[in-house]
Formats: sequence, C-alpha cells, structure tokens
Amino acid sequence: MEEKRPIIRLDHVTKRYGDNTVVRNVNLDIYEGEFFTMLGSSGCGKTTTLRMIAGFEELSEGNIYLENEDVGNMPPYKRNVNTVFQSYALFPHMNVYKNVAFGLVEKKMKKEEIHEKVTEILNLVQLSGFEKRMPSQMSGGQKQRVAIARALVNNPKVLLLDEPLGALDLKLRKQMQLELKHLQQQLGITFVYVTHDQEEALTMSDRIAIMNNGVFEQIGTAKEIYEHPKTKFVADFIGESNVFEANVSEVKEDGSLKLIMEYGDMEAYGDGFEQNEIVYASIRPESVKCSLEPVNGFNIRGMVKEHIYIGSIIRTTIELPNGQLVKKCAQPDDDFKPVGSLVYLHWSPDKTVVMHTNEDKLYDLIDAGE
Ligand SMILES: Nc1ncnc2c1ncn2[C@@H]1O[C@H](COP(=O)(O)OP(=O)(O)OP(=O)(O)O)[C@@H](O)[C@H]1O
Ligand SMILES: [Mg+2]
Repeated sequence: MEEKRPIIRLDHVTKRYGDNTVVRNVNLDIYEGEFFTMLGSSGCGKTTTLRMIAGFEELSEGNIYLENEDVGNMPPYKRNVNTVFQSYALFPHMNVYKNVAFGLVEKKMKKEEIHEKVTEILNLVQLSGFEKRMPSQMSGGQKQRVAIARALVNNPKVLLLDEPLGALDLKLRKQMQLELKHLQQQLGITFVYVTHDQEEALTMSDRIAIMNNGVFEQIGTAKEIYEHPKTKFVADFIGESNVFEANVSEVKEDGSLKLIMEYGDMEAYGDGFEQNEIVYASIRPESVKCSLEPVNGFNIRGMVKEHIYIGSIIRTTIELPNGQLVKKCAQPDDDFKPVGSLVYLHWSPDKTVVMHTNEDKLYDLIDAGE
C-alpha cells in the first residue's frame, strides 16, 4: 500500500507555561484532505495545540512540520494555514465584501481578480447578495460564514477551526455542521477542528483525537473510538459505558481472559494483559443483557431498579450488591424483567473492552503511538 504523506506532523510536541505542562509530548500525523478533530473538555490543551500549528504559540519542545517542512521558526503569515476562531473576529467597520477581500488586498492582488475570488467564495458559503451588509446587520451563523469565507479566500491548504460554531444555538449549529462538512469535502482542504462537543466531533470528522490533560489518549475514527476505547477516560467521554474494576484471574491460550470482580465473573478478550493485573472492563449499555439464570462464563447478579421508556427503547438501571449501577438499554420486548427482579447480567465477551488501570502502561502505549 502506498504510504499517505502527512500534511501536518507534530513530533514530540510539548508546551509549558512556567511549570505547567499543558501539551505533553504529542505525536500526530494529519493527512491531506482529512477532517481531523481534537475533542476534549475545557482546559485540556486544544486551543494551545491549534495555536502552535498556526504559529501563534512557540513550542517548548519538539517540532512541527507542514508538508515536510520544519515550521518551528516560521511566522504565522508564512504558513499555508488559516484560522477561524470562536469569536468571529470580523472587522466591524467593514462590510462583508471588504472583510472577505482583506487578505487579498494585503497581498496586493489585482482588483478584478479579488472581485472574482470574493464573489466565488461568497457564493460557496451561500452569502451572495450580502456583499454590502455590515457585520452588525447579520445573524451569528451568517457572521460565522463570513469568517470562514475570509479564511478560505486565501486558498489555504489547511484550515484550523477553533470551536467555530460555539456561539450558535443548537439548531443553527447542526445546520452549520453539515454545511461545513460539505464545504470541506467539496474543496478537499484539510480541516483541523477543535470542539468539546462529542456529537459534533462524531458527526463531522474522519478522525478524532481525544485529548485529556495535555495528552491525546486516543486517535481514531468515530467507530474505532466508540467500539474500542483504549482508556477509561475515552470510554466515559464518548457515549455511555459501564466500567467495572476487575482482576485478571486467568489468561487463556486462545487469548480470552477470565475477569473476577468482587461481586461476579466475566469473560473478555484482550492482548497484553497479565495474570493478576487489575484492569477496567468497559461495556456499552446496548450490549448488556439480563437473564434469570447465569449464562456461560458470566456470574454477575443484580436487581432491576428502574425502567425508563424513551420512544422505541427502554433504559434500565440494575443495581449490583456493592451499589454500583449498571446501565442497560434495549428494545422493549428484549429480555425485559420487571422492577425488583433478581437477574444475572451477561453479554457477548467480545463486547467487553479491557483497559489497563496502570497509568505508566497507558502512557507507554500512547507514546508508542498505538
Ligand atoms: N498564555 C497562557 N499562559 C498560561 N497558561 C495558559 C495560557 N494559555 C493557556 N493556558 C493554560 O493552558 C491550559 C490549556 O489551555 P487551552 O486554551 O489550550 O485549553 P482548551 O482545551 O482550548 O480549553 P477550552 O475548551 O476551554 O477552550 C489551560 O490550563 C490554560 O489555563
Ligand atoms: Mg480553547
């Protein structure tokens, strides 16, 4: 297979403010034409990472390459990237046309050529006819499209977007998500997108990096991350899951594991685990089943506490003897047991995701880029 060439490479990038390390030894390749999203909660280092790629922030350690060129000492305006920030940052005293044309005027491009480009881009973001409007006379979504047009008109190879839809209401945000995704596909530009909204990330991205405390805990497609979270943080952050602490009592020859908890046993698959290691076992609510008798390899007992009907599915809570609550969701007629029933929980062993609890091991895996 031909190896894809990264358009952006972060090589052991670290950023410190004083004693505070906010981005820790990040290795990352982003490929041409990709919609790449950094997802994580407030303060985890997303904006800092984006600003280092744009050149607004110096690195404490490591290197950044754009199309194989070391851009460590290159000022922002020389990098073939453009940034769209959360606040629209339009020039309030300029109309839409002048806002979009600004970069081209600075570049001393010919008037006719500017006109052609601005017209084309405004058409693309569906703002033809708005040329003479002032920013104060436009809605949030329209202003954000002007900001995007202003970045796109420079024909960047890469567009960096820092929570560009954060200020919009939910309905407009959903609409703009689709518009942006289409625009990106249409233009084939590489998008590096920052958000703390997991649904937004899942909707738009080719790949997502889950960031926590200055580290990328996992990078992958939405499906990979949802189905095979590598860490407890990722399992908790994306969608819902039940996480159990368990001891690996047996590593069988076929690669399967026997896990023992204080209040039950389960089977699972996983590589790289040792006998007697304490692990987390994560299972999605939609995989949890219950029955009145133990089912092969599983012996976890609980009591049905509550059912909540949400349209076509039922969300059930089951309480284990130690008080831990297990979430289950299913179609109403699948293995339904009334509130108060004593049940045995089970699921297909390949639905269990087993994770190390040991942080050193975890960060070894992350450093190895696995
Ligand atoms: N100029 C600075 N000086 C000192 N600390 C800073 C500076 N800029 C950011 N930080 C700190 O670095 C950490 C990461 O900040 P960053 O802005 O990258 O977070 P973020 O993931 O973008 O968060 P949010 O979702 O809230 O925008 C935070 O703890 C922040 O306080
Ligand atoms: Mg930020």
